[in-house]
Amino acid sequence: MSAHPVAAKIVDKYRETYPASRERHQRLVKYIPGGATRSLSYFKPWPIHIDYGKGAHVYTHEGHELLDVTNAYGALVHGHGDPDVVAAVQAGIERGSQYSTPTDGQYRLAKLLCDRVPGFDKVRFLNSGTEATMFAMRTARAITGKDKILKMTGGFHGTHDCVAASTKKNVITAGIPAGMTADMLEVPFNDPVAAEKAVKENAPHLAAVIMEPFLGAGGVVLPEEGLLKRIREVTRAQGVLLIFDEIFSFRVDIGGCQNLYGVVPDLTTVGKVVGGGLPIGVLGGKAEFMNIYCHENTEKPLYHSGTFNGYETVMQAGFAAMTKYDEQTIADINAKGARFQKGLLASIADNGLNIQSNQIGSLLNIHFVNRPTIKAADVLESEEELHTLMHLSLLNKRIFNIPRGLFILSTKITDDEMDMLVGKMDETLKELLPLIQEKYTHLLL
Ligand SMILES: Cc1ncc(COP(=O)(O)O)c(C=O)c1O
Repeated sequence: MSAHPVAAKIVDKYRETYPASRERHQRLVKYIPGGATRSLSYFKPWPIHIDYGKGAHVYTHEGHELLDVTNAYGALVHGHGDPDVVAAVQAGIERGSQYSTPTDGQYRLAKLLCDRVPGFDKVRFLNSGTEATMFAMRTARAITGKDKILKMTGGFHGTHDCVAASTKKNVITAGIPAGMTADMLEVPFNDPVAAEKAVKENAPHLAAVIMEPFLGAGGVVLPEEGLLKRIREVTRAQGVLLIFDEIFSFRVDIGGCQNLYGVVPDLTTVGKVVGGGLPIGVLGGKAEFMNIYCHENTEKPLYHSGTFNGYETVMQAGFAAMTKYDEQTIADINAKGARFQKGLLASIADNGLNIQSNQIGSLLNIHFVNRPTIKAADVLESEEELHTLMHLSLLNKRIFNIPRGLFILSTKITDDEMDMLVGKMDETLKELLPLIQEKYTHLLL
């Protein structure tokens, strides 16, 4: 950590503000390596420990009320302890949580999703996004009889071996045998020429292209005009399946980004919000493809099983959450995202800064880069120290966001809280300004 007075002040204040979290971190680290059972949950000097959450807020063991703009990395869309989700789970769990048989809960959630998402005729339920993309790729390989998969640099599809070497900040290669990634190809996101070339050149061996409609974990990088359409056309023409990974992007539109952009893939994965805050992954697609799992008209359906697949309590939570995530609610939460973006851009300009804020719907990512972030490589240039300090400074001000500059809203945040958030961002940028003026002059207007 830099010894610059701005940095020292922010870190000292954090240390003073979160002593009970420190105690818990020291206690936990004895039993859980790193003191966090998820790599992303750890940050220096120690992560905050949350006692409970209610609505748009979380409460730490110090007794601080924080505005939560992480929303469990996007898994929560109605904030914490939403009464309808809680009631559905409570009513359901008394009748047993899982029976390992088909259930009405599975029917209700499957129907809701198929009614909404253009690319869904049929779905299968899994337990995480990671599992969903793993099965999407297996499905594409089984259907086409081909092995190679093309992904976009900066695209994140979970942590299974084939895709773990994902966003550059999140490159995991240790422990993965080379063979697992030998059939993975990669082109930059937002480079339709490179994507078309790769699809055409590899078509005889290429099972699928897997991509997020916009880079989510990779920095909320939006697709340039026509990108998705061009990739749809070339994959169709070349007999290659197109998989949209909408695990993150689904929340921005009633039918996901494929509805928003009017481009329908062959297979789609969703997750996160769809489970109402409980663990879920969903793989779906056109009937002609999903019927590979059909026991009735296929002699050897593709095997897909799992102890917790279609877990009834998850189905109930997901159905309750999605039922009230209707078109009007999505329009409202997206308007809050736009309000945040407007206020933040004004603050950035007022502070004389040349940095980026990318926003779509209820998702916003700030980047300390002095040109538009169009590719994963642009995002990687963002100044790490400023991200770290912004995150800690916001925590000092009782705002809990994702360290890499990502903000995820819930339907529970009020307009007043959005304006308060803009105000806190403005204070934080002002706090960082002397450091930027000294060390990061390329970020000044
Ligand atoms: C686009 C995308 N795909 C896959 C995943 C992995 O999902 P999970 O964390 O549920 O395994 C994520 C998680 O952030 C994601 O954003």
